[in-house]
Amino acid sequence: MITVTKPFLPPLEEFIPYLNQIWDSGQLTNNGPFHQQFEEELAEYLGVKYVSLFTNATLALVTALQALNITGEVITTPYSFVATTHALWWNNIKPVFVDIEPEYCNLDPEKIEAVITPKTTAIMPVHVYGNPCNVRRINEIADIYGLKVIYDACHSFGVKINNESVLNFGDLSILSFHATKVFNTFEGGAIISHNKSMKKRIDFLKNFGFSGETTVVAPGINAKMSEIQAAMGLLQLKYIDKNIYKRHEITQYYGEWLNKISGIKLLNDIPNVKHNYSYLPIFVDVDKYGISRDELYENLKEHNTYTRRYFYPLISQFPTYRGLESAQPGKLPVAEKAVDQVICLPLYPELQANTIDSICSFIKK
Ligand SMILES: Cc1ncc(COP(=O)(O)O)c(C=O)c1O
Repeated sequence: MITVTKPFLPPLEEFIPYLNQIWDSGQLTNNGPFHQQFEEELAEYLGVKYVSLFTNATLALVTALQALNITGEVITTPYSFVATTHALWWNNIKPVFVDIEPEYCNLDPEKIEAVITPKTTAIMPVHVYGNPCNVRRINEIADIYGLKVIYDACHSFGVKINNESVLNFGDLSILSFHATKVFNTFEGGAIISHNKSMKKRIDFLKNFGFSGETTVVAPGINAKMSEIQAAMGLLQLKYIDKNIYKRHEITQYYGEWLNKISGIKLLNDIPNVKHNYSYLPIFVDVDKYGISRDELYENLKEHNTYTRRYFYPLISQFPTYRGLESAQPGKLPVAEKAVDQVICLPLYPELQANTIDSICSFIKK
């Protein structure tokens, strides 16, 4: 069975010394030595100022909105994993969905201004599949209207624009280190911030709001990353460049096959962007290809290939959100089209060329 992803695990024997250290020190969590070291090494690797580690990205998203005191309405995309919008809901914030642009499926900046109201306080875009949003245009709009920008950067580990980390744009960016991501700590996440006082506030919030032994400064939550996750992160850092390199090679190999098939569209690399090749989305045009995305999806399953239709259905189509005015069918035409065409194909560092040959020749047939 071929699955859409296979988490990368370093050799077990390399993890054992980290475990020995944890067992010796007896420190399992609460900003332990591995946690501190991982925050430092990660900030350096990513080219960002401050990293606050979290036990997962969903809690990081919820906390980021708290850290910036976001209220009222937030403009966001329907084309993402559902946690993006859930984070707003958990903060009692009304999500306002805006359509995506057709090239990379990111929030369309040109459609933001039309939905801004006096209640709008922020924009929460997603760098979908790791491809950067139009960060300059989004920042421009945010500046004009006095809005905060929180990027769901869960797919964007290591992505750079003109050699600058994509995580340095906006007020805060959130990463996920979930097992299915390019970089994993089993479960995990982080908030990237740009000044010391904001990092401090985030660190209070993820630790129940404690600012000292007896002082609680906010109704915080428990979202701390454990030592075992941080240790895994330190070890994974040693492999990440090699893994992204392999993902790039695999993506190119898929491209050689799929670019020749009528009705199958791939996303191109963006000039001056360092990509992380986190997903391999293809878009099926039923008229040109001959069968629909869903038929291809089912046929691939019978061929023992388990792809995923990320991000079908749209978040705006789930029962929790479909009653919102911005979620009404017909209001998000580009997203509605993309979500009916997309399939993410298997992509992970250990994927072999003969497996790709088998998947692609099947798609070709
Ligand atoms: C775009 C996006 N946002 C948020 C999340 C939530 O991340 P986590 O599973 O680390 O909570 C994910 C994936 O899991 C995601 O793909």
